[in-house]
Amino acid sequence: MTSTIELKPSSTPKSAEEREALKAVGGFGQIFTDHMVTIRYTEGRGWHDAVLEPYGPVSLDPAASVFHYGQEIFEGLKAFRTVDGQIVSFRPEANAARFNRSARRMAMPELPEHLFLAAIDALVTQDREWVPEAEGHSLYLRPFMFATQVGLGVNSPSKEYLFMLIAGPAGSYFAGGVKPVTVWLTEDFVRAVKGGTGEAKCGGNYAASFLAQAQAVEQGCDQVVWLDGLEHKYVEEMGSNNLYFVYGSGDDARLMTPALTGSLLPGITRDSLLTVAADLGIPAEEGTITVEQWRDGVASGEITEVFGCGTAAVVTPLGTVKGRDGAFTIGTGQAGPVTLRIREALLGIQTGKAPDLHHWLRKIA
Ligand SMILES: Cc1ncc(COP(=O)(O)O)c(C=O)c1O
Repeated sequence: MTSTIELKPSSTPKSAEEREALKAVGGFGQIFTDHMVTIRYTEGRGWHDAVLEPYGPVSLDPAASVFHYGQEIFEGLKAFRTVDGQIVSFRPEANAARFNRSARRMAMPELPEHLFLAAIDALVTQDREWVPEAEGHSLYLRPFMFATQVGLGVNSPSKEYLFMLIAGPAGSYFAGGVKPVTVWLTEDFVRAVKGGTGEAKCGGNYAASFLAQAQAVEQGCDQVVWLDGLEHKYVEEMGSNNLYFVYGSGDDARLMTPALTGSLLPGITRDSLLTVAADLGIPAEEGTITVEQWRDGVASGEITEVFGCGTAAVVTPLGTVKGRDGAFTIGTGQAGPVTLRIREALLGIQTGKAPDLHHWLRKIA
């Protein structure tokens, strides 16, 4: 079993000039650093051949299992520069744990946490000049694993896997200020059902969501809101964000996020915000809400704000909600005070402006 990552750095990394030009592009998911980490798994032998190597294509047999039966899982997390110049990642241990929960659900081997973290440390350290300096920018890290065994038999999971880690600079999600999104309540499609793969971060969940997302865009919306798979009634999550509902305002404000029923992704931002809210003295609980309760709560003024949360955008306010039965706007349709306070509090911890009371930052370089 591998315990260290062998370093085989590129002899032709991008020049400082090229790199800085690419970092300045901003955006998300189009530009990648000079290196990647690969670790192989073979049943009976375990994890082996952990290497940091130049970023580049992988060669796979056309009969590799992932192409046919979709055994693939991934994670998403960020490394940033704090105000005192350190490079840190946010709760990577939580991503390692979720990666392994996804692996178990998809009948894939678990990757020991120390290897997951060693891969991140090796890549971010090697490519540290790629970590953007600009406020709100970050280095997005994408660990993933897929089945590589050759053969079309469907009776058992693959016996071979490849873990990879790639990274790329990401711009600020809300360049020019936090803007509320308009969301579409999909009733035609469901993302997940209890007992399915909704709480795993597997590629198939995303493949299954693109049609609903396209429908949301057709309806003039930015994101799709998923309802429960059985009754199409309970609100679950939004695009690649969990949701928080704000009841009341001022000192009486309280938060509710849909409980983890087995079909939602257990977001690390969602989990962090339960703690951040408690730190701020805002009561926060897990619960349930139907679309009808959402609409009525907004109409009566009981629900004052709603926001999405996830690694990419951190906290995103919801403005207008559209569905087959019409549309309604939450509060003023703008980012509300509780949403902004929660957002600032989490960003404060991530950037090192506020104390890291819960030891969420892992120093890399
Ligand atoms: C479906 C889904 N829900 C929620 C989230 C938010 O999770 P996290 O806060 O860990 O990024 C994500 C993003 O990973 C997601 O893909």
